Amino acid sequence: MSVKVVVGAQFGDEGKGKLVDWLAKDADLVVRFQGGDNAGHTVINTHGVFKLHIIPCGIFRPECQCLIGTGTVVNPDVLIAEIEMLNNAGISTSKLLLSENAHLIMPWHVKLDEAMERAGGIGTTKRGVGQAYADKFLRNNLRAGDLHDATTIRDRVSSHLEYVNAQLAFMGAEKFTLDDIMDKCLYWQKKLAPLLCDAFDVVHSALSKGARILFEGQLGAMKDIDLGIYPYVTSSNPVAAYAAVSGGFSPRLIDSITGVCKAFSSTVGDGPFPTEMTESDAALLRGPGVNPDDEYGARTGRPRRIGWLDLPVLRYADKINGFDELALTKLDKLDALPEIKICTDYLLDGKVLRNMPNTYDLYRVEPAYEILPGWLSDTSRCRTYSDLPENAKQYVQTICDKTGVPIRYIGNGPERDSIIRL
Ligand code: GDP
Ligand code: IMO
Ligand code: MG
Repeated sequence: MSVKVVVGAQFGDEGKGKLVDWLAKDADLVVRFQGGDNAGHTVINTHGVFKLHIIPCGIFRPECQCLIGTGTVVNPDVLIAEIEMLNNAGISTSKLLLSENAHLIMPWHVKLDEAMERAGGIGTTKRGVGQAYADKFLRNNLRAGDLHDATTIRDRVSSHLEYVNAQLAFMGAEKFTLDDIMDKCLYWQKKLAPLLCDAFDVVHSALSKGARILFEGQLGAMKDIDLGIYPYVTSSNPVAAYAAVSGGFSPRLIDSITGVCKAFSSTVGDGPFPTEMTESDAALLRGPGVNPDDEYGARTGRPRRIGWLDLPVLRYADKINGFDELALTKLDKLDALPEIKICTDYLLDGKVLRNMPNTYDLYRVEPAYEILPGWLSDTSRCRTYSDLPENAKQYVQTICDKTGVPIRYIGNGPERDSIIRL
């Protein structure tokens, strides 16, 4: 048996999708354990270019079971569309399962998210993720398993709709009727009933058979609802420990935790971002938006904010996750830079900080940079660590030394096999 958890070590979009697609060759079960379709996990393999929003990135491996786990929030329309998109590309989804205890993103959640962003939000993806989690914690949401029974849905929705419509009216958004919602739910029931499962049983059967299980995180450490840059965060816990909560097993059963870390930093949405580059430097790394690995939100298409690698963020991400290893992605994107900055520490009011400060102090920190020489050569063809130019090795080694975490994978291109194993 092995239980591996893959999580984002920065602000999201580190390349988790590519790594999970690659690692899934050795997995029997891949579980998306939190978040919703705010994710955009890019996978480029022999089947094409895909941006998955809710389906686990193990789906391209025919032998691998894929589970949308209990800790997620699921928009059924998005899931149905994603299944169809994959099927049209010749990818089978026959081994895809959906936890009966996953929560549903209802149409009003999306409308409320959009309306709240219009009124001045934090730059969400407007997928209704925060609103669905809010209703989960208020204990008045529908779960995927409720789709088994139309009468339950009717009772639950009719008692809740008045409150929802009052909120929508207050926000100036369109209201819903019970008939609209029931039509949708009956359609979702028809499409999704075959996927519904007892996720606890799926995970525990896999554990007892000694299966190889891979947990796929969404977003990254700095956007964790409890541990991230609140309020500029998502509404779930993208940290490794939550894989155990979502899967319903002891955290002691996790064998290894991989932090996915981009060779520089990026973020989308508002909030502090201490190592943010000047726009002229950022534009070079972001790319023109025509290549699948250019830095534009895979979910919203927004240009990502770009920064230098931030070691205080990585060290903090390690503290809250407990990384066994790092996967360093997009090293190739630094190929053309004559010199590369790494933020080694934060200074606040002239003092070096030992810990991650609170969100408002994070706006005020001054990053201390070390400048390393670039390598000015193409790393995308390197197949082994020893093929890398010396300055690239120095960059990699500096990250290992200053975080204390070994780098075991280096990404040197967007395609599935552009991975150097160390
Ligand atoms: P995720 O949300 O963590 O799965 O990351 P995204 O898919 O949103 O963003 C990562 C982007 O980087 C995608 O466009 C990937 O295709 C691309 N990518 C991942 N690893 C590498 C790499 O090593 N090199 C290059 N050039 N692109 C990469
Ligand atoms: P992956 O899984 C990058 C950001 C939004 C916003 C904040 C809250 O592809 O890394 P939400 O819609 O979750 O309520 O928005 O989180 N955000 C992401 N940023 N990658 C993502 O997913 C994101 N999912 C949400 O921009 O700042
Ligand atoms: Mg992404």
